Amino acid sequence: EKLLSPSGALSGKHALVTAGPTHEPIDPVRYIANRSSGKQGYAIARAAADAGARVTLVSGPVDLPDPPGVNVVRVESAREMLAAVEKALPADIGIFAAAVADWRVAHAGEQKIKKIGDASSALSLIENPDILATLSHRKEGRPPLMVGFAAETEKVIENAQQKLLRKGCDLIVANDVSTATGVMGGDQNTVHLVSAAGVETWPTLSKTEVARKLVERLSDLAGAMPS
Ligand code: CTP
Ligand code: CA
Repeated sequence: EKLLSPSGALSGKHALVTAGPTHEPIDPVRYIANRSSGKQGYAIARAAADAGARVTLVSGPVDLPDPPGVNVVRVESAREMLAAVEKALPADIGIFAAAVADWRVAHAGEQKIKKIGDASSALSLIENPDILATLSHRKEGRPPLMVGFAAETEKVIENAQQKLLRKGCDLIVANDVSTATGVMGGDQNTVHLVSAAGVETWPTLSKTEVARKLVERLSDLAGAMPS
């Protein structure tokens, strides 16, 4: 299997990958989460290691084994993920496949929150740091090749093009995560590569195949950069 990717195409490169959801605490026993399984990000980390890269995988809570040959850093929240990512720098390639929670609870309870009679309850939410945008816009230490993902349920290409500009990354891997597609948690993915060069749509592939093809593409792009 390993022979399918050009061996050593990423040797000498450090690839930093994020994967999985984040969990944002509400109180000691509750959290906000999303349906990300981490499968696509884990497959990418594995494919990058197979291509000879040194790989750091910063992972939210998932039910997956560590990919062989990959340095896995496990975190819970978006803020922990950002800290772990910054600690892992410098990197030659950043691949941000994590489904980072957009919001966290403004004041997570130190004790379990109790029901108060018949009163309705509201959590007040604040925005999490955007890890991809933070790194892309760094003046120093920006990985030269920055890849983001765009999980969309409508206007997939249009939204991805806007994200490419807003986040300041070099490439966006966009996909349709509507429930009907079965992408979230499933083993297949239909992606569009969106960059300044245009849009390329790949056929539906397994997440392993998407990972291999993406790593092959990134090897070509990284080969064109000074190491
Ligand atoms: N991302 C990130 N940190 C965040 C939110 C998103 O690093 N706090 C990254 C994701 O890992 C992904 C890309 O940004 O690579 C796009 O994530 P997405 O959720 O699609 O974009 P958002 O900017 O959060 O926009 P929205 O969810 O409103 O569509
Ligand atoms: Ca988001």
